Amino acid sequence: MLDGHKRVIDYLRISVTDRCNLRCLYCMPPEGVPWTPHQDILTYEELLRLAEIFAGLGIKKIRITGGEPLVRRGLTEFLKWLKEVPGIEALSLTTNGLLLAEQLPGLAEAGVGGINISIDALEEERYRQITGGYGASKALAALDQALSCPGMNVKLNCVPVGLNDDQLPLLAALAKDRPLAVRFIELMPIGLGKGLECRTEEQVRRMLEESFGALKPVQGPPGSGPGRYFSLPGFQGRIGFISALSHQFCEHCNRVRLTSGGFLKTCLQYERGADLKSLLRSGAPDREIRDAISGAVRDKPASHHFRDGAGGQDLERHIMSQIGG
Ligand code: 5AD
Ligand code: SF4
Repeated sequence: MLDGHKRVIDYLRISVTDRCNLRCLYCMPPEGVPWTPHQDILTYEELLRLAEIFAGLGIKKIRITGGEPLVRRGLTEFLKWLKEVPGIEALSLTTNGLLLAEQLPGLAEAGVGGINISIDALEEERYRQITGGYGASKALAALDQALSCPGMNVKLNCVPVGLNDDQLPLLAALAKDRPLAVRFIELMPIGLGKGLECRTEEQVRRMLEESFGALKPVQGPPGSGPGRYFSLPGFQGRIGFISALSHQFCEHCNRVRLTSGGFLKTCLQYERGADLKSLLRSGAPDREIRDAISGAVRDKPASHHFRDGAGGQDLERHIMSQIGG
């Protein structure tokens, strides 16, 4: 499907829950947030119906996000069905990895071909400072297990927030002996991310080059989206940067997002989109839902305005766990 700025939109991110077993400081307050009640979250049946409609409109890739998607019961079973939707060519998942080890065989069998694991620190105390819980070694063990799944595309995501400066080289070093993309994501000023210190790509690059030598630009892995990739001398894997602020990539944006509450978001920074849950639950026929989706996609904003602070009336007021990252 084409949006109003002639971008091809073929990638949908589906948040299946706003719940999470961690409290990353840029995502959720330490005391938590009231969870969305179950009846306000789209059921798997509703999600499958929407997926078919999206696929009919040209969506080819789906990524499952949260909150933490693996806390939702029955996910693997749902993913099996989702993978069967005609037109859906690739299915991937973003997780904090804490529940991954036990679910990995089922996920691989369901046809999940890519797993992104968020690990902001390798040392447990530092990990806890950022995520509110222990689990670095568990997440790393799950990452290694994912790497041992034949054909699985595994990436590590880290958001540098100052607090984890000392962890960045440790995380990057994981790509030395593993076919792994270690990606550093610039903190976006959304939700709790607004009040935090952030590190720019440039700052992180300098830190890494001090430890490992010059980063050399390389072609990213297939389907790597907005990530820009680099190799380091003697490294098997890659280092990536996703820099929404310092290297804005909106021009090439190919995605829309479905929140767990059934709202189709066409840009991370804006409230703009379509309330698909209301349509589903009012008994709307496929045609009407299809029109709502195409209309919202046509109105997809040209770009975010994180840097200049502009953006107007309809700026996003949700926190990240409600959007899905
Ligand atoms: N800016 C950048 N990345 C974020 N994430 C959550 N909130 C933000 C933010 N404000 C990341 C998480 C995880 C992914 C789902 O999104 O660290 O890797
Ligand atoms: Fe949970 Fe991910 Fe948010 Fe951290 S960033 S609190 S792991 S949803």
